[in-house]
This record gives sequence, C-alpha cells and structure tokens, in this order.
Amino acid sequence: KEIRVYPSLDSTNTKAKELAADDYPTGTVIITEEQQQGKGRRGRGWYSPPGTGLWFSVLLRPDIAPNKAPFLTIISALAVSEGIKKVASSLVPVIKWPNDVLLAGKKVCGILSELNADLGMIKYAVTGIGINVNQTSFPAEIADIATSLKIEAGNEIDRTLLVQEIIVSFERYYLEMEAGHYDKLLGLWKKQLNIIGEQVIIYANEGITYEGNVLDVSSQGELIIKDKNGEINKFWAGDVSL
Ligand code: BTN
Repeated sequence: KEIRVYPSLDSTNTKAKELAADDYPTGTVIITEEQQQGKGRRGRGWYSPPGTGLWFSVLLRPDIAPNKAPFLTIISALAVSEGIKKVASSLVPVIKWPNDVLLAGKKVCGILSELNADLGMIKYAVTGIGINVNQTSFPAEIADIATSLKIEAGNEIDRTLLVQEIIVSFERYYLEMEAGHYDKLLGLWKKQLNIIGEQVIIYANEGITYEGNVLDVSSQGELIIKDKNGEINKFWAGDVSL
C-alpha cells in the first residue's frame, strides 16, 4: 500500500478525497508535516503546526454497510490507543466517546471520519487522525484541554515509529471489521471508554442538548442515555461533557 508524505497540505482529509476521486486504492495513507487548514469535527479547525505532530488520513474502500461506518472511527481510536502504548508504555490512553483519545483527562488525539456513500453503498471513506506528539505548548484557546505524548511521557517520541505502529494495528482491526467481528471490536472499545455509568450532557446537532445517565453503548456504537424522566435515547454524533 502506498504511503504518501507531503511537506504541507491544507488538510490530509481533503487530499485523501482528491486521491479517492482519482481512483487511488483502499489503504492509501496521506501524511503531512503541517496542515494549513486542519479540520476538526463540527466545522472546527485542528491546530496542526509543523514538525511536532502526526497528521494523517487513510483512504478506504470498506466492504461494509454504511450503517457500520462508525466502526471506522472505533477501529481508529483502538489503533491509536494501541500505538501510543507501544511507543510510550507508561501511558494509559482513554477513549472519550465518540472519537477522542485522552491522556490524563486531556485530548491528545482527534479523529475525523468522512464518508462518501450513494445508493446504500460506501464509495469511499476517509479517516483522518491527528495526534499531538512532541508539542510542549499549545495556543491559549486549547491550552487547558490539549496535551501531547511528550508532555505526558516526559520524553520525545519518534513519530515514524508511532505512525508505523498505528497503521499495523489499524490494518489488523480493519480486517476484523470487514470480517464482521463487530462485537469483538465493540468490546475492546468499550473497555477503554470513560463514559458508561456517567452522568453526561450531550450537545447534539441544531443546538439541542440532552442530559442523562449513560446506560451503555449500542451495537452500532451509539450512546444509550436515560434522562431524569426515565426516557431512553440513543446518540451517535455530538459533543459530550462529563
Ligand atoms: C476532532 O477532534 O475534532 C477531529 C480532529 C481531526 C484532525 C485530523 S489531523 C489529520 C486529518 N486531517 C484533517 O484535516 N483533520 C484530521
């Protein structure tokens, strides 16, 4: 599989979508030193300075039903968590539903999966992964909520080794996903989620907020929440505060 490395891009997700339109095959990896317009979830930006982070996307043509697409994010979080443990064995990553990876309660990784589906078929998907690796400081707006592997581990981390470990893990989980082993993946993911049993507020789309207790995650990875009136709802997208 091809790994393409660029000195600078607007966004590796955008580049991956261009390559998808040019018929690049599944498994193509796009890595860049810096992003001029790194994209976060919910229309936000993603701070992507040169030299210290790991900013990459994987172009995928998964043989799964579109309603299983959340598993792309689930396996990405699992692979990132595993990769981090390989390069910095003292660290204990926690997955914040749906798709952040935290260390010591702060965000070290964000994942942005984008889907191009038509007539009930996935044409292609792009999974973008951003990891704060060797930063020692952050812009004021995110200084309280962001951390890096270097800050948490206390030493410089080899980005090449990290991305290799993540890609190897990702491929293994991806094959499990295509083989239909969803329950196994969900089980591994749930073990690292910090949310089951917690009282949360969900900031869903269109400004809707919803407060309740997290009973479980569904077989599709949605949060199952019970509010104070005993009403049960499921959420896939949204921001959560604990
Ligand atoms: C989030 O937590 O809001 C998701 C952040 C995703 C950032 C990564 S960096 C590589 C890829 N390219 C992008 O433009 N975004 C993702």
